[in-house]
Amino acid sequence: SRALRIALAGLGTVGAGVIRVLDTNRELIARRAGRPIEVVAVTARDRTKDRGVDLGRFAWIDDTTRLAEAEVDVVVELVGGSDGPALALARATLAAGKGFVTANKAMLAHHGLELAEAAEAAGVPLKFEAAVAGGIPVIKGLREGAAANELARVTGILNGTCNFILSKMEAEKRDFADVLAEAQALGFAEADPSFDIDGVDAAHKLAILASLSFGTKPAFDRVGIGGIRHILAADIAEAAALGYRVRLVGVAEAGAHGLFQRVHAHLVPQDHPLAHVTGATNAVVAEGNFVGRLLFQGPGAGEGPTASAVVADLIDIARGEAGPPFAMPAAALADAGEADGSDR
Ligand code: NDP
Ligand code: HSE
Repeated sequence: SRALRIALAGLGTVGAGVIRVLDTNRELIARRAGRPIEVVAVTARDRTKDRGVDLGRFAWIDDTTRLAEAEVDVVVELVGGSDGPALALARATLAAGKGFVTANKAMLAHHGLELAEAAEAAGVPLKFEAAVAGGIPVIKGLREGAAANELARVTGILNGTCNFILSKMEAEKRDFADVLAEAQALGFAEADPSFDIDGVDAAHKLAILASLSFGTKPAFDRVGIGGIRHILAADIAEAAALGYRVRLVGVAEAGAHGLFQRVHAHLVPQDHPLAHVTGATNAVVAEGNFVGRLLFQGPGAGEGPTASAVVADLIDIARGEAGPPFAMPAAALADAGEADGSDR
């Protein structure tokens, strides 16, 4: 049957990865999707850059927003940034009645409700599996797999860069700056790595997870945020001597006054599951009133895992699987309430 036609904005770590996944697993993906998935148009900043993939077969569109006008079914946004070209493209794509797939947690944390409303009004899919915990299917797991449950609490290691830094600082007795540079070279870090190390990226993801878990509007402004910039190798060694590991953990919890959401460095007992999460791995623990405790764990950043999640969304769309972008239709999402984890 007819191919699902894609336009792709952003050809960096994740964007080039998506092309590699679609090329390498082409036949398998077509069988699972029920039809081929074909990239037809692309854009990035620099047309001449070698990205290790053949771009000659795709149309190049200079103006990012105009990708929404291409003859495609779905636009995939892998540019990044909460506003700017990514948001303009999202709005234009949904207004044009086309599906939209993104890994951009910053944009979703700030504008997720507006975009969900636009997608629902247009009757088109808005999907973002890659935006939280990279390759782990945690959006699908919470939105679909745990949909029958009331969740009391969601906890997680949500930033691969921070976890990579903290675990390498401990295991290899290395300096913060040196390990951060390695995480950047491996493609884990954000374009501005202060988003990672100051806890903002994990807070973006927590706001999305909390919305999916509790049926509330994404409320990034109510997330309390702390980072790991000031943690020294000596702090980590001292914690280890006392039987703890240092981890950047996000917690979202339903309380009497609404949702409590906070990201900060925790001392995790060495026998706790989150203490064993090392490197760029992420983990999410969710407790449901019928399913019990769920643990999702896997690669949280990097080309292969993130591109894998983006393509999974495309396969879902090709199959015609639909539903509201968050836990329920945007109009039915509740306010996050009065609790405020923020100490900013
Ligand atoms: P990169 O910085 O590697 O790539 C960004 C791409 O966007 C580049 O190709 C760049 O072009 C292009 N770009 C930047 N500005 C513009 C613009 N104004 N117009 C058109 N194109 C532009 O980022 P990543 O691939 O790492 O991340 C992409 C998105 O995925 C972000 O939202 C990020 O948060 C998210 N994400 C990333 C993960 C990761 O592990 N890397 C994991 C999960 C989500 P050029 O190459 O020409 O400079
Ligand atoms: N910079 C992010 C991280 C990428 O390190 O987790 C994955 O979202």
